[in-house]
Amino acid sequence: MMFSVFLSKNLLKMELVETKEETKLLTKKQFEELQEKRWSPRTFKDEEISHDKILQIFDAGRKVPSSYNEQPWYFLLLSKDDENYQKLFGCMVEFNQSWAGNAHYLAVSFGKKYFSRDKSEKKPNRHYMHDVGAFMYGATLMATTMDLYIHQMAGFSPKKITEKFSIPSDYEPISMFVIGELGDGTDLTPELTEKESPYSPRKPLNDFLFSNEWKNPF
Ligand SMILES: Cc1cc2nc3c(=O)[nH]c(=O)nc-3n(C[C@H](O)[C@H](O)[C@H](O)COP(=O)(O)O)c2cc1C
Repeated sequence: MMFSVFLSKNLLKMELVETKEETKLLTKKQFEELQEKRWSPRTFKDEEISHDKILQIFDAGRKVPSSYNEQPWYFLLLSKDDENYQKLFGCMVEFNQSWAGNAHYLAVSFGKKYFSRDKSEKKPNRHYMHDVGAFMYGATLMATTMDLYIHQMAGFSPKKITEKFSIPSDYEPISMFVIGELGDGTDLTPELTEKESPYSPRKPLNDFLFSNEWKNPF
């Protein structure tokens, strides 16, 4: 535990503030390597992942910040051995069905659209999707440390999921995703083999990081 001393405006006030201990667990280089390693493959080993590893992945997601610490994330995670797997599989668009079955696990993220802390009125949480997205990245990076890959999908019917799984109206399906170890490519069609690449281009910083006024590069 560390303590900081603060000076207030008129009086010298000692305040004890708990801060997190400074630990350097991951160097910049290691973090960059982890980010570099992550990508969204479509080839997967159709194999079980230990319960413990799955929990570690979701636990890492749980650590991300969220608006008012609402933690509006919820998930349905199914393996091919689950009774409802085919029901969930049928909610994806055809393109995603052509490869998502390569992995053993198929999941959906949900966001809760209203704050839980306001019991008196239903106050919309404008950042629920944002926070579910943050969760996904935390979870995805943890998966990467274990040589597991997460590929998210927007190509599915939220309506079908809501109906088939009787999802309460306060919750919205955000993305579907698969989890698994990287495959050897033999599970892909020739068209998908052509698309499969760990290197997807990124926009340069100047395209979106502005200073002083809109479009003025930082
Ligand atoms: C919210 C979200 C939705 C996506 N939807 C799909 C999808 O429906 N089908 C698909 O094949 N890939 C999908 N992707 C994967 C993206 O195309 C991919 O992340 C992007 O091209 C960058 O590539 P990378 O993840 O390999 O770096 C999605 C990714 C995200 C985050």
